[in-house]
Amino acid sequence: MKISIIGGAGTLGAAIAFRLCQNDQVDELCLIDVNESLLMNHLMDLKTAYPAKTIYKGNFQDLTGSQLILITAGVPNRNDIESRNIFLRGNIPMFQSFGTHIKKYASDAFIITVSNPVDALNYYLYRNFDFKKGQLLGYTVNDSLRFEQAIRSVMEISEDAHLFSPVIGEHGSTQVPLFSQTRLNGNPLALKAEDEVAIKEKLNRWFIEFNRLNINRTTGWATAAGIGRLIDGIVTNGEVDTIGSAIVEGEYGIVDISIGVPVTVSKVGVISIHEWQLAKAELADYQHSAETIKQLIKPFIR
Ligand SMILES: NC(=O)c1ccc[n+]([C@@H]2O[C@H](COP(=O)([O-])OP(=O)(O)OC[C@H]3O[C@@H](n4cnc5c(N)ncnc54)[C@H](O)[C@@H]3O)[C@@H](O)[C@H]2O)c1
Repeated sequence: MKISIIGGAGTLGAAIAFRLCQNDQVDELCLIDVNESLLMNHLMDLKTAYPAKTIYKGNFQDLTGSQLILITAGVPNRNDIESRNIFLRGNIPMFQSFGTHIKKYASDAFIITVSNPVDALNYYLYRNFDFKKGQLLGYTVNDSLRFEQAIRSVMEISEDAHLFSPVIGEHGSTQVPLFSQTRLNGNPLALKAEDEVAIKEKLNRWFIEFNRLNINRTTGWATAAGIGRLIDGIVTNGEVDTIGSAIVEGEYGIVDISIGVPVTVSKVGVISIHEWQLAKAELADYQHSAETIKQLIKPFIR
């Protein structure tokens, strides 16, 4: 499988490349980045670690033949922010260029946007280029991983127990943790109202505390681990159930936006979107989240 990473020299791009080098079925990795020296630094390092891997610095023409394109490029991260949405204005011109080049050189590839704000940027690709909706996914799994962490911490659940804890909605402050769908070892997890409040509080504080460290670095390891597991699953099992930002057309009463939703993906992209029975309050929060994304991207859509 050939995978290209646009933004391959960044915190995320390089961490994902390192993780993908460990998957033998990913036999070709093309890394693209405007910071060519940093990219060469990573490449020389990675080639020493994985000499048998076909991994190289590419330009947009080298997207040709990619089955999967990961977009991790973006304006430099900042920690003095309350929302990832402030990156949108700077990232839109880049996505205009990426969309144009992907359309030209790898028009059928499965495209996973990781750059923020992920829902808005995924939707921008959909609206401005003639990609099929199933070709486009935004990566949002970290929210579910943090929800899991918060539940385990507040409820003192050990790592041996299996916990399913999906988060849907915006990859941002209006995300919706789905208590109604949470399962502990396959069974519904009954939580008191005060536990839910404590879990939500812990979840919401994560981004604030991460930024308070005052280091302009994003979550390279968690994201690389999440993307790595997704790609391992696709190449090994063919299909993977996950959560990601996908183009919805009526699911949950929401139309024409990209938003975090339960999906099944394969190597060609999103093959189905699942409609779960949500609690009434969760559905209302979800629709509010969709409205927030709509308002954010509206000024950038023709
Ligand atoms: N979806 C998620 O869960 C998630 C998690 C973490 C970070 N992010 C987002 O991912 C993005 C990347 O984060 P990062 O920490 O790797 O940032 P980073 O600054 O380390 O890397 C971004 C890279 O993009 C490159 N770049 C900039 N303009 C480019 C262009 N026109 N063409 C090619 N490359 C270009 C830069 O040179 C840099 O190497 C950010 O938008 C961040 O907010 C998303």
